[in-house]
Amino acid sequence: MIALKTEAELDVVAENAQLLSEILVDVALAVEPGVETSELDRLAERRIRAEGAEPAFKGYHGYPATLCVSVNEEIVHGIPGPRRVRLGDIVSLDLGLKRAGYFADAALTVGVGPISPEAARLLAVTRDALRAAIREAKLGGYVSDLSHAIGRYVEGHGFHVVREFVGHGIGRDLHEDPQIPNWGEPGKGTMLREGMVLCPEPMVKGDDLPVRVRDDGWTAVTASGALAAHYEEMVVVTADGPRVLTGGMWEAYCRRRT
Ligand code: MF3
Ligand code: CO
Repeated sequence: MIALKTEAELDVVAENAQLLSEILVDVALAVEPGVETSELDRLAERRIRAEGAEPAFKGYHGYPATLCVSVNEEIVHGIPGPRRVRLGDIVSLDLGLKRAGYFADAALTVGVGPISPEAARLLAVTRDALRAAIREAKLGGYVSDLSHAIGRYVEGHGFHVVREFVGHGIGRDLHEDPQIPNWGEPGKGTMLREGMVLCPEPMVKGDDLPVRVRDDGWTAVTASGALAAHYEEMVVVTADGPRVLTGGMWEAYCRRRT
């Protein structure tokens, strides 16, 4: 069952998404050589609570933190801890909050100082795959059009999508229907309708092997140690086309960095 949001609900969801994206950009700007991943988590939690919101991930199926921090070959769900990030690392940050009964969820991957050309290409391809998916969030289309756009773009650029985790709808729950895989045939299954709020979230890596989950029960890593990237935005299907609620995070990050 897919919950279509009313205008009044969308006002709240949009405000939450805007708040989340501002906090996530601030957390991303705090990613510097030597920072502990747990410091980033504390910053995220402090900022969320200061706004009268709550962390969305803490306690979700037992997840122990506010933020997911996934470094290099870690794909998603990295648990913050004493690890310090280093020059040349790539760091995926995934953050969710709940306020006034509605959830927001977004992610981005940043480099720590200069990163290798191949890492930079991985990040750019993942961002552009997300952009391609968002373009498909329009009336007359299907949820699987977003999936297809991601898979086609990523595989066409020599990288591989993660098949074990999917994007999702969002609203009163963090994860609502529909599921949005990062691959698949277009024009199948659920049609897009006005008021759907979707979180496409391409997870992209250099190998084409099944992902592994570490003994902590959460951290998903590439089996070969290949690098992985992850971006996620919230988009609403409207009569005027896709409306991105978390828009401009990457641009804001780039503008404010240095
Ligand atoms: N953005 C991720 C997702 O949609 C966040 C989940 S982390 C968890 O699955 F800890 F809450 F599971
Ligand atoms: Co998500």
